[in-house]
This record gives sequence, C-alpha cells and structure tokens, in this order.
Amino acid sequence: MRRKLVAGNWKMHGSLEQNKALLDALVSGVTQSEMSECAVCVPFPYLCQAQMELVGSPIKWGAQDVHPLHQGAYTGEVSAKMLLDFGCQYVIVGHSERRTLYGESNELVAEKFAAAHASGLIPILCVGETLEQRENGVTEQIISKQLDAVLSLVGEHSLDNAVIAYEPVWAIGTGKTASPEQAQHVHLFIRQRLAERDAQLANKMRILYGGSVKAANAVELFGMPDIDGGLIGGASLIAEDFLAICRAAK
Ligand code: PGA
Repeated sequence: MRRKLVAGNWKMHGSLEQNKALLDALVSGVTQSEMSECAVCVPFPYLCQAQMELVGSPIKWGAQDVHPLHQGAYTGEVSAKMLLDFGCQYVIVGHSERRTLYGESNELVAEKFAAAHASGLIPILCVGETLEQRENGVTEQIISKQLDAVLSLVGEHSLDNAVIAYEPVWAIGTGKTASPEQAQHVHLFIRQRLAERDAQLANKMRILYGGSVKAANAVELFGMPDIDGGLIGGASLIAEDFLAICRAAK
C-alpha cells in the first residue's frame, strides 16, 4: 500500500509574515494520518522559518531545487548538504519551470536527482509534456526520456527513496487540469515503464499528479489507482485549500 503524499510548491511566493500565518494555519488544521503525508517546499530563505514552525508537527518541509555538487564556487547555488542543515526531507528536481525558464536539461536534472538522493533527501522528480508535445502524440516519448536520463545515471535501485510527479506543462498554473483518466493513463505508463526494470520498485513508487489541483478536483484525481497524491502550486498558498487537498488524500 503506497502512502499518499501531498506536497505544496510555494514557488517564489511568500514573506515572513505571510508564511507565519500560512504555516500556523496548516499546523493547527492538519490531522495526522497513517494513510497520507503532507509537505511544503518553500523558497530557500524561508527554510529556517519552515523548520522552526514545523518541527514536531506532522508536516514535512523541503526545497524547490538543489545543486548537483556539495560545495564550491557556484554563486547563488544551494547544495543538498545545506538543505539537510535545515531539516529538509524533500526537494523538487526538474520542475518544468526550471526546465523551460532556466534551460535545465534531462542530464542536469538527473545530476540533481543523484545528489539529492545520495545525501539522503527524497527527490521529487517532475516529468511532463508540453501542450504541443501532447498534440503531436509524443507524451510517452518525452516522459520516457525524462525518466531514462535519471535511470541511466543512478540506476533503478536509486529510485527506492524517491517520488515522481507527473505534471503536464499545459496544466500548470493554467486552471486546466488533466482529467483523472488522462492523468491515470500517464501514471500507469510511468509505473509500467519502471516495472520493466524492477516490478517491486514500480509497485512501491509514489507518483504524484500536479497541475491545477484544487480542493474541488483532488478527490477524483487521488481516487485513481496510480495517482498517489499531488504536487500543488497555487492552492498550496491558501491554508484552507491546501488542507482540503491533504484531506482528499486520506
Ligand atoms: P499549480 O502548480 O498547482 O499552480 O498548477 C503546480 C506545480 O507547478 O507544481
């Protein structure tokens, strides 16, 4: 039985004051559950705040990106070791905004994944196709390439402590959600693809859906057999919406 995960991706949003109100509301509203897990991935400067507010609560926290190397002359970058200093458990790698706006290749994403995994963080590996790719019928090819880059760098055994998030680019921040059937189709494809390497691993792998998940569509999405929770952008900034999505995962 896979434990569902609902992870918030705050992106470049928040302030000390806003975060305090949001985190307080999450901590007082969250109910602990054997069945599901809840986490927030916050901007780097607020990791310390997240740690202070969330330590001892059932809510986990993490970051939105990581550098492949431990340390060095890489101005502006943050290593996995630094994230661990702030109690992070999760880190998002390969979000489509990083891939498209900052030109992150499948190979770089794989290196980030490897560094996160080797340090003991749980990488949330984002994969997904653009609208054009979907319309051209190459969704599965694109996702295979994104997965294969990681598999060929780290091998399938390194996926044991990782999470995959399927995020169709056309559904991110657009209000257009993939239908539960569309999402399920791709989730099953991802699981089958992993099963070709290792059936046990494929069966254990948590595959989240992301892209305009809201309280109103979460129950239906999370009810699909291969959808193991969600990666939530916009709705993770509003406490009652995020809590409702967390409850939908139970
Ligand atoms: P959204 O973002 O929920 O605002 O569509 C999801 C994401 O980018 O992870």
